[in-house]
Amino acid sequence: MKISVVGAGNVGASTCYLMIAKEICSQLVLLDINRSIAKGKAIDMMQASIALISKTKIKTTNDYSDIVNSDIVIITAGLPRKDGMSREDLLNVNIKIMEDVILNVKKFAPNSIVIVVSNPLDAMNYAALRLSGFDKRKVIGMGGILDSARMAHTIVKKLDEKQDIVRAMVIGSHSEHMVPLFSQSFVGKRTIKDIFDEQEREDIIEKTKNGGAHIVKFLQTSAYYAPAASICILVEAISKNQKSTLPCSTLLEGEYGESGVSIGVPVVIGKNGIEKIVELPLDKEEMQKFKESVAHLRESLVVVDKYLKNNKNS
Ligand code: LAC
Repeated sequence: MKISVVGAGNVGASTCYLMIAKEICSQLVLLDINRSIAKGKAIDMMQASIALISKTKIKTTNDYSDIVNSDIVIITAGLPRKDGMSREDLLNVNIKIMEDVILNVKKFAPNSIVIVVSNPLDAMNYAALRLSGFDKRKVIGMGGILDSARMAHTIVKKLDEKQDIVRAMVIGSHSEHMVPLFSQSFVGKRTIKDIFDEQEREDIIEKTKNGGAHIVKFLQTSAYYAPAASICILVEAISKNQKSTLPCSTLLEGEYGESGVSIGVPVVIGKNGIEKIVELPLDKEEMQKFKESVAHLRESLVVVDKYLKNNKNS
């Protein structure tokens, strides 16, 4: 398996490092327009690969022809947010970067599965889908896996119990309007509503939503270890044809009563990408919050549509 990662920033590089450690693929390409940064990180990783006796070979490049025949292309390119910025503030800059990346993916890796990680995630995934013209099953936005990990972490901290018995599910957009689902989140067999009172549940929602921003405050840039781990979960579901149900951004065509919007919902992931959209039985409040998330996201998609309309490549 050949995997290419576009963008050698913190998320792209951490993803490569984890994929080397886990030997997820035989060939890894790390591409960045700033070759020097990509090269420095890749040399460091090659040495890590040898120390770890990993079978993964890594190549660094600023030339898109090196991504040729990739099975998976992971797009992390784009500006990360700084303290005080929302992910949506990045839209106007990152859509131009996305356009350039996608035109090259279309040219050199037209049969690849594309994983979009750049922010604002759902708008970028929608743009990638529209710009590529790829089958929607092959353009997957990674946001919900990360948000779900953050929700699980919030619950774990409150309980002081082992992480492996906490399962959490967050759908909706990868933004302040994400929708943590109590009906689909469990500690062992107990639901969150069985364990936490309303005030605690509100706190879980707030901490989950602010999970990314909380880290930006300390680092002055976006998180990368949990994003990288979340990307690896998705890549392994594809490479091992796991048929795992994971919350990912995908284009809805009637599911959850919505169309023409790419947003986080549970999907079954296998070797061909998204095999199925899972329609969860949401309770009334969750459905209302999901609808609000869609409504907010549509405001960003108007900007994307306008950009694509005014542009010859769309
Ligand atoms: C975050 C970025 C990667 O949530 O979207 O940390």
